[in-house]
Amino acid sequence: MTAFDPHWQPPADLLAGRVIAVTGAGAGIGRAAAHSFAAHGATVLLFGRNEAKLIDVYDEIVAAGNPEPVIQAVNLAGVTAEDSSRLAAAIDEGFGRLDGLLHNASVLGPRVPLAHYDPDKWHEVIATNLTSNFLLTQALLPLLEAAGERAPSPLVLFTGSGAGLRPRAYWGAYAVAKAGVEALMKVFADESENISTVRFASINPGGTRTAMRAAAFPGEDPATLPTPADLMPLYLWLFGVADAAVHGRSIEAREWLAL
Ligand SMILES: NC(=O)c1ccc[n+]([C@@H]2O[C@H](COP(=O)([O-])OP(=O)(O)OC[C@H]3O[C@@H](n4cnc5c(N)ncnc54)[C@H](OP(=O)(O)O)[C@@H]3O)[C@@H](O)[C@H]2O)c1
Repeated sequence: MTAFDPHWQPPADLLAGRVIAVTGAGAGIGRAAAHSFAAHGATVLLFGRNEAKLIDVYDEIVAAGNPEPVIQAVNLAGVTAEDSSRLAAAIDEGFGRLDGLLHNASVLGPRVPLAHYDPDKWHEVIATNLTSNFLLTQALLPLLEAAGERAPSPLVLFTGSGAGLRPRAYWGAYAVAKAGVEALMKVFADESENISTVRFASINPGGTRTAMRAAAFPGEDPATLPTPADLMPLYLWLFGVADAAVHGRSIEAREWLAL
């Protein structure tokens, strides 16, 4: 595998002509990814539940002179197979293919012992952070398959977490969902081995300066953390350069980026 160089400078046209969907594109890491992918030439499909935030991102991308994105308002907490099929049909009609899918949206949920965990919150967190990843990937797979032979091949990048890789007390459904995301990625990766060009991988961003991190660690000084923009060279590299050797891998951003 071509190794990632933390000092790599992505060329401006790295993702030119690519169509990449980003969930949770209205805030935090997803918003930075949407901007970064568009700034490097991609047409970004902005998935999120808050249309006003998506419109802001849309306006900023257009104002920067980058390819016009597409807004796909969707609440992943309640997304169904039918919703996912409708989204796939809309993308098919507009583009006929999909070059990348970044599963980024998630909610933290309550930070309490499982013994006291609200069952409704459990369902919301599992639906948003895990089930939506399955439903969207399943529905969008034919469009990813249709992306053709251009290197690098299409990538589905799931977003993991230290809480999923090393589940521990008080992380509740978030930890369980993130552990499930790692398993989901590996099952999709294994099933596509030798029969598909689609690559599957996961990334654990590590502590990053966002609203979710501040909610999880209210005593932490955000200034000590990398920003979402600091992570973007690795995200760009994974979608625009990395070869099949990342297929099936759980990537710890901190280790790769030397932040
Ligand atoms: N930040 C960290 O330190 C860190 C560490 C490890 C892993 N992660 C993971 O990295 C990813 C991005 O996290 P972040 O820190 O950028 O979080 P964030 O700032 O809270 O952003 C999360 C995004 O997901 C969206 N979202 C939440 N629920 C949704 C739903 N039901 N339907 C559609 N969109 C929904 C949010 O929309 P709204 O704007 O409407 O709320 C927001 O755009 C997450 O998967 C997170 O688990 C983050």
